[in-house]
Amino acid sequence: DKVDTKVSLILVNKYHQLDENYVPKDLVQAKSCGNPTLTKEAAEAYDRMCTDITKAGLFMNEATSYRSYAFQQAIYQDYLKTYGQTYTDTIAARPGFSEHQTGLAVDLNTGDPSFSVFVTTKTYTWVKDHCIDYGFILRYPQGKEAVTGYRFESWHYRYVGIETARKITELGLTLDEYV
Ligand code: DAL
Ligand code: ZN
Ligand code: ZN
Repeated sequence: DKVDTKVSLILVNKYHQLDENYVPKDLVQAKSCGNPTLTKEAAEAYDRMCTDITKAGLFMNEATSYRSYAFQQAIYQDYLKTYGQTYTDTIAARPGFSEHQTGLAVDLNTGDPSFSVFVTTKTYTWVKDHCIDYGFILRYPQGKEAVTGYRFESWHYRYVGIETARKITELGLTLDEYV
């Protein structure tokens, strides 16, 4: 499939924010592995990754994918109550500043409700090694906290297209640095 870089390279981080009303135009539900809601191109890539990880005998599920501005606001407020502002800002984006609003990000799990468990799973090992073949990157890597502003998230993958995913990985960059 042709990569629409105008869409797949959207940068959303602590300094690049989306409009409150921004909704991706072509949101669809992926057909497999938890049926995340993503842009059409990202959903098709996700389904290809699901086919192959399932063939490898592993289980992959989604925790969350597209999130509206309002939903992100609710999540952020929840975290604030529990963790306070300083820590919350290292784990959750403020509304308008979340990649989840682009429809290009997916949080994976294996059915365990705790995000922290994902890093210990075989699914994580497989996805970390293979996600670029489907156009996804690990968006908040270990050791890049100062660049991304977020703690390491083993579960959060961002669709950028295969070519870009390969380039970013070869260069050892985050999306922030690459863009
Ligand atoms: N956890 C990521 C940074 C988000 O809330 O978008
Ligand atoms: Zn800018
Ligand atoms: Zn996420």
